[in-house]
Amino acid sequence: MNVLGIVCSSRKGGNTEILVREALNEAAKKDAETDLILFADLNISPCTGCGGCVNTGRCVIEDDMTKVYEKLLSADGIVFGTPVYFWTVTAQAKLLMDRTYSLYHGKKLGGKVCGCIAVAGRRGTVNVLSTFNMFFLGQNMIPVSNGISAYGSGIGDVKKDENGIHSARDLGLRIAETVYKQKKLS
Ligand SMILES: Cc1cc2nc3c(=O)[nH]c(=O)nc-3n(C[C@H](O)[C@H](O)[C@H](O)COP(=O)(O)O)c2cc1C
Repeated sequence: MNVLGIVCSSRKGGNTEILVREALNEAAKKDAETDLILFADLNISPCTGCGGCVNTGRCVIEDDMTKVYEKLLSADGIVFGTPVYFWTVTAQAKLLMDRTYSLYHGKKLGGKVCGCIAVAGRRGTVNVLSTFNMFFLGQNMIPVSNGISAYGSGIGDVKKDENGIHSARDLGLRIAETVYKQKKLS
């Protein structure tokens, strides 16, 4: 079982990364192999809407998204994390969603177990969770919760949010357990 975490923040070691790592560590306790993608390490362009992928299922843009596609496709479970920026997801998170349009046509993310973590200084997580949940449903993915809201502003502040930490761990656990059940049934 593979569980992938994707951090859609440009702050390395920031609050979102801390919580996505917590979720992955919990999944690892259930014998998941885990992998982490930091958007900060990647150079990814926005979808141009060229439609090139509609028939081929392949994006025509050649950039770091190629590595992300491989990891998304081989993952059984995926944890998406984003800070709240102006009441919604970061540009990085939206860019990532849009670039999965090439996977949308063949529903290649269908059946992947998933969940999202939103970190705000104070408010705005509900818009993030709503955006991610619509994305998950659009891609035929299987969210195991309606999403995690956590709070902290400065790097590391989220460690003081006990509920946020606990919820992120629980998300990782539930993703791993759901993948495990899926595999047992197949
Ligand atoms: C451009 C920008 C916009 C932000 N907008 C919001 C917001 O609408 N609501 C909020 O509560 N916090 C907002 N924040 C604070 C971040 O959500 C918060 O610092 C978060 O912990 C950052 O996560 P990170 O450490 O993973 O990057 C904003 C921060 C930035 C840089």
